[in-house]
Amino acid sequence: MNLLLFFVVTIFSQSYGNEVSELRERVQNLESIVNAMVVKLETCNCQETAVVNKRQVTEGPVAFTAAVSPRSIDHMTDGQSVVFDTTITDIGGGYDNKTGIYVVPLTGLYMFQCSLLDHMAGAHGTSKLHAEIVKNGNMLVRVFAHSEDTYRDQGSNLVFIPANKGDQIWVRVVDNGDLGLGGQFYSTFSGTMMWQS
Ligand SMILES: *[C@@H]1O[C@H](CO)[C@@H](O)[C@H](O)[C@H]1NC(C)=O
Repeated sequence: MNLLLFFVVTIFSQSYGNEVSELRERVQNLESIVNAMVVKLETCNCQETAVVNKRQVTEGPVAFTAAVSPRSIDHMTDGQSVVFDTTITDIGGGYDNKTGIYVVPLTGLYMFQCSLLDHMAGAHGTSKLHAEIVKNGNMLVRVFAHSEDTYRDQGSNLVFIPANKGDQIWVRVVDNGDLGLGGQFYSTFSGTMMWQS
């Protein structure tokens, strides 16, 4: 009986000892693998960061959208700026819903977009909408729409433009001294920074 117990204990402790040394070896292997990976990751990390900085904006996001909420803005005159009174989004700041002017918060490449609804001619003013997106007063792109007696019409345009911090972007009516501009969230003005520089 004692002999049997001796055998059992010997076999057990032998296999136990084997298992421990096998595990120790495996842990050492894993340690060296992990160490090698850490070294790789550290070098790799620097490159990754450089790529990210090149491709993405480093500050931001910067984006705004505003809309004309009343049914119409009546009797607009040549050169008058369109005030998109309701701010839907203004991340990064810059849009003023009292003046309609967007002040660029960070220097970079921007996209600006404007969609305008031409109201029907009548009490609100005449139809035939001409407008333009301007930067510091200089025309960038133009929008046209011409409604009919009982149908309204919509025009839009979009521009990619580099802009410096502090530049002013807005939308103004041109070539019409008495325009009835449609609202009700059809007329919108948006912008976003694509790339900071
Ligand atoms: C106008 O802008 C201000 C912030 O500049 C905001 O608090 C307010 O809600 C905006 N008004 C509308 C109608 O979107």
